[in-house]
Amino acid sequence: MQTKRWNVTNESSSKAAIIEAAVLLKEGLPVAFPTETVYGLGADATSYNAVAKIFTAKGRPQDNPLIVHIAEIKQLDEFAVHIPSYVLPLLRAFSPGPLTYILPSNGKCATNVTAGLDTIAIRIPNHPIALQLLQAVQLPIAAPSANLSGKPSPTTGAHVWNDLYGKIAGVLDGGATGVGVESTVIDCTGDSPVILRPGGVTKEQLEKVVGPVKTDPALNNENKKPKSPGMKYKHYAPEIPLWLVTGSASHMQKVIRQEQDNGKRIGVLASTKTIAQLEADQLKPLGDNPQKIAATLYDALRAYKKESIDLIICETFPETGIGQAIMNRLKKAATRIL
Ligand code: TXA
Ligand code: MG
Repeated sequence: MQTKRWNVTNESSSKAAIIEAAVLLKEGLPVAFPTETVYGLGADATSYNAVAKIFTAKGRPQDNPLIVHIAEIKQLDEFAVHIPSYVLPLLRAFSPGPLTYILPSNGKCATNVTAGLDTIAIRIPNHPIALQLLQAVQLPIAAPSANLSGKPSPTTGAHVWNDLYGKIAGVLDGGATGVGVESTVIDCTGDSPVILRPGGVTKEQLEKVVGPVKTDPALNNENKKPKSPGMKYKHYAPEIPLWLVTGSASHMQKVIRQEQDNGKRIGVLASTKTIAQLEADQLKPLGDNPQKIAATLYDALRAYKKESIDLIICETFPETGIGQAIMNRLKKAATRIL
């Protein structure tokens, strides 16, 4: 498939590109676009054939359902039923934003969107290009992250291009996304919301609006089956083994030296402050605050190449706020946790 790449970083050129992209989506072709979290690979959520092209392009397992993107709160009940009362205050507080609601489906979207489940995932992305595209196309858009299955999610148009060139109809390249980790997925089929995947909206932020929020116990227990099918896969796997090392910079340095003595070339991922205290073959500072670390993480994971690095050693971070999402993704990427 021929893949178009539109530069949509300035407003005057982006209008025509968005219209062109919307036409391709209406024709049933897959098009990638930026959201505030990561790039999504979109297709018409009402068309089985269009949605099937997403699974093919990504190499995504068929049992992993997709998030449906809509432009406005009022579209929610076009696709979901039995919406509990706690959803409205959440929508008011976080729309548009990085929060995905799992609700009972009314069956209007294609069956492969929900992978045969009776629930549907819906979110309103907070990105001008995504919102303009949704307005232009006037369709619900199913969109998983626009990476090859198993790779870190794409946070730039170039990441999408590297993974999906030739496999999709186009990418609206709006530069780097802001949040950098995916949306928070909450199960809204019970008496209170349950976090199935930590993400851009933190547990603390949710609790300010609706009181205590539980987390799917499977997130911290490998023996339990997660309620979100995607969480069982080894996601975000970098090309190179990755060890998570908890402890002081001098402890990390000891592990680095030991593995260098074993003949390995070591790349490090850590906060800017920690990086300043370390020596290794390559060093990549992630930033000095959790928001910045989340925004940089996937690009840094992709930047290490197996031609020059044998092992990535990564610092661990406190599991509060956005740190929950960062550590969830790092634990999934890790081949060893020390
Ligand atoms: O930020 C994001 O959420 C990005 C952007 C593009 O919106 N999208 C994204 O999609 O991360 P994806 O497909 O990479 O992850 C969607 C997650 C998967 O873990 C999937 O299993 C889960 O949502 N999911 C989708 N529908 C579900 C459902 N009905 N029940 C439970 N989990 C569901
Ligand atoms: Mg994904």
